[in-house]
Amino acid sequence: MKTLLVTGGAGFIGSNFVRHVLETTEDLAVVNLDLLTYAGNLENLTDVEGDARYTFRKADVADPVAIAAIFEETKFDYVVNFAAESHVDRSILDPGIFVRTNVMGTQVLLDRAKAAGVERFLQVSTDEVYGSLGPEGAFTESSPIQPNSPYSASKAGADHLVHAFGHTFGFPVVVTRCSNNYGPYQFPEKLIPLMISNALEGKSLPVYGDGKQIRDWLHVRDHCSAILTALRKGKDGEVYNIGGNAEMENIRVVELILEALDKPKSLIEYVTDRPGHDRRYAIDPTKTREELGWSPSYTFEGGIEETIRWYLEHRDWWERVKAGEYRNYYERMYADRGA
Ligand code: NAD
Ligand code: TYD
Repeated sequence: MKTLLVTGGAGFIGSNFVRHVLETTEDLAVVNLDLLTYAGNLENLTDVEGDARYTFRKADVADPVAIAAIFEETKFDYVVNFAAESHVDRSILDPGIFVRTNVMGTQVLLDRAKAAGVERFLQVSTDEVYGSLGPEGAFTESSPIQPNSPYSASKAGADHLVHAFGHTFGFPVVVTRCSNNYGPYQFPEKLIPLMISNALEGKSLPVYGDGKQIRDWLHVRDHCSAILTALRKGKDGEVYNIGGNAEMENIRVVELILEALDKPKSLIEYVTDRPGHDRRYAIDPTKTREELGWSPSYTFEGGIEETIRWYLEHRDWWERVKAGEYRNYYERMYADRGA
């Protein structure tokens, strides 16, 4: 049995990844390390709590003392770093926490993981480090790094540090860069869950600017299978782009959601654009397909239908998240477990 440290495992993609690893492997034990910020919700993982291969530890990736203690306690074979501040709009309001968590947190983890001699450190990054595209073309792994928001700049800083550890110390690192994820357990501040939940609540759907910005949608389960594949089969020092072959204008995504829920288009409200809003992202997934043998299994049409159904069936989950009540969950479930 090998031990995998997953940071940020109580968030959207991290919780799907923890479940994916436990469901699809028999040789990996998972330690989920998460600070449980507003975006971290242990309720996402109630179904795996009893699994003997799963442990939770509450800690801050940017706290060197806490992270050193966790590495002292457990011998990790692999690290997959999801922990981050992840929302572009929040990074515009308060860039500082993005640098602390995303850059310094990555450095603290790299220091400890290197000292512990882990076999592989996988950094979960984003296509947003490449900046914005015009109407043609797609990001490859060698596209220039040109981040535009404080969020993407902090992720780019982390990517550079990860590569520097690989280059300088011969430390075994892999970086994955994916497009916009969607699927179950996504915090309803991001476009798709916000629009689904607002529509279900009969609230207006705020579309930034002209709504013609393009994102390349990737189902979270496809993303998880790609990360596990890159962890097992990737080459040290390499970057792998992960995409879902599903480019779409934001306004079309919103219209599809309204059509699926049988809600009127009059709920759409065009609002002031996001400052510095990237116009278009698109992933060229050729390298990942050819070198790792991975490609997505979801179409956007199938994935969005399944996602809408999930939000319809889990109204209690997102209503609690929106109300902020999930903060109490950790205290209730874990205070007496010494986590
Ligand atoms: P999320 O905001 O849902 O989850 C982030 C998790 O990190 C939360 O559980 C939070 O509690 C935890 N966290 C935050 N600060 C921490 C700290 N200091 N110490 C420990 N834990 C901390 O984010 P997500 O959408 O699941 O994204 C996960 C990763 O994937 C991030 O690194 C993000 O940059 C990257 N990514 C996300 C997308 C996307 O579409 N969501 C796309 C590309 C890349
Ligand atoms: P988001 O989900 O925040 O992801 P990112 O900014 O990382 O791509 O936003 C996706 C797209 O949707 C982006 O172009 C901004 C737009 N958007 C809106 O139009 N309205 C909203 O309320 C939100 C949250 C996003």
